[in-house]
Amino acid sequence: ICLVLDFGSQYTQLIARRVRENSVMSIMLPGDVTLERIQEVDPKAIVLSGGPNSVLIEGAPTLPSGFFEWAESKRIPVLGICYGMQLMVHTLGGKVHTSDLGGEYGQMRIRTTQGSQLYSYEPDPSQLVWMSHGDSAEQLPPDFSVVATSEQGVSVGIESQKRRLYGLQYHPEVMHSERGNQTLQHFLNTIANLHADWKMENILEEELEKIRRVVGPTAHAICALSGGVDSAVAAILVHKVLGDRLHCVFVDNGLLRLHEAEQVMDTFNNHLHLPVTKVDDSERVLAALKGLSDPEKKRKAIGAAFIDVFNNFAKGLEEKGGIKPSFLVQGTLYPDVIESCPPPGSKQKHSHTIKSHHNVGGLPKDLQFKLIEPLRELFKDEVRALGRLPAMNVPEPFLQRHPFPGPGLGVRVLGDVTQPDGLAVLRQVDAIFIQALKDGGLYDKIWQAFAVFLPVRSVGVQGDQRTHSYVVALRAVISSDGMTADWYPFQPDFLRAVSTRICNNVRLVNRVVYDVTSKPPGTIEWE
Ligand code: XMP
Repeated sequence: ICLVLDFGSQYTQLIARRVRENSVMSIMLPGDVTLERIQEVDPKAIVLSGGPNSVLIEGAPTLPSGFFEWAESKRIPVLGICYGMQLMVHTLGGKVHTSDLGGEYGQMRIRTTQGSQLYSYEPDPSQLVWMSHGDSAEQLPPDFSVVATSEQGVSVGIESQKRRLYGLQYHPEVMHSERGNQTLQHFLNTIANLHADWKMENILEEELEKIRRVVGPTAHAICALSGGVDSAVAAILVHKVLGDRLHCVFVDNGLLRLHEAEQVMDTFNNHLHLPVTKVDDSERVLAALKGLSDPEKKRKAIGAAFIDVFNNFAKGLEEKGGIKPSFLVQGTLYPDVIESCPPPGSKQKHSHTIKSHHNVGGLPKDLQFKLIEPLRELFKDEVRALGRLPAMNVPEPFLQRHPFPGPGLGVRVLGDVTQPDGLAVLRQVDAIFIQALKDGGLYDKIWQAFAVFLPVRSVGVQGDQRTHSYVVALRAVISSDGMTADWYPFQPDFLRAVSTRICNNVRLVNRVVYDVTSKPPGTIEWE
């Protein structure tokens, strides 16, 4: 096991994921756990994550006392990344310094030292890495040496072979660090001598076991299926343990795409063999959204309506069948968690809320169910891999469905969702766009594609007539986990054909624009 200790970085889960990609089992715990808890895990390697703090400020997160003494006595190699490296230096008697020049951010070249253990896999002494730090190590603790240096002359790789302690000032876990994954792999396989024997089946087994333990032999659970991959995979997993003690509901909240409700119900009933009740809540949700145009208020309103449906569904089970469910299953993924709130287990108040994702931020404090979120530590492509396991047997086309946000078209009709024509126009445009992607063999190459209805009219000319009609935007992005994304570079002919088809077939649209914004600075959805 490789233990990842979390100090609040946006990338901590990515470290755990990289470890798994190297077929080594990883467990993540908050950085301030007790030494006893760490010892219980019995790790063969430990990674200390980055974090938003400076080790020099008061109250900055620390490791439990005696941590390094214990690790050294057990010969467990420890790799500190960014904040983790500074914490190592600071705790062991070195000096960390806040740069007057404002630090180093973004991709940059470093030079590595011959004869180092961390870089012994690589004869090339130069590599590009992703840096993001304000503080740096000015003086190293005893027995440490510098094994990599940045262009500004900052020590960005340090090690003590004798003490089996290693530090990287940059982020080897992000894609932009050219040989970051190799460095991590080398740390795990060669330095820590960890065997590559972890498989996706392990996650399945662990989660089934956890659900068995938490839910027990008699309790019931309910689950809202959104029609997407995440909630379906979560439900299938829970269904394996609970069988008919799991009660699934699919809510038509009036914010679904064209014919989506029928198609999704058909998949559940005929392909996934999950018993599901369909509830039509569209009138109530749309009434709650009337007049709202602030994106956060809209998200909260949709989230609140969603919880009401749950409560009513659960009440119905009790009144009709004498069943009182005590658990709620959700397909929450790791990026939903990290973007909605501070990292799990963290006491930090420093992670910013980007959006209130409706399955996380929208939940009321007095929720009457305990949550089961079996995918909470996974990224989307890992969920697909889980669904692909023979024991799960989820059909491939279903697994390849693009993500669809909980608030649905509610965040794709900008402003008031109930404005005239908004939803109807958006549904038609979206269907044309997605069909064109499928016809052109592009759907599976793209992480997510959709249309956005803009509350804007522009002047056009159609059949010699002046028109004053709606503008729609098309968005298509490539991404590996939804946390960062880039727009998809369509061939001009494809965009031309789609634009023509939309303007010819959707009466109220006379202009189509294509969104060429990456994330960051944009987000994938427009609201
Ligand atoms: P953003 O717009 O934040 O989206 O860049 C990242 C990914 O998350 C999806 N998304 C959501 N998914 N509930 C969800 O289940 C939500 O409230 C929500 N908001 C955004 C979005 O479609 C993209 O895949």
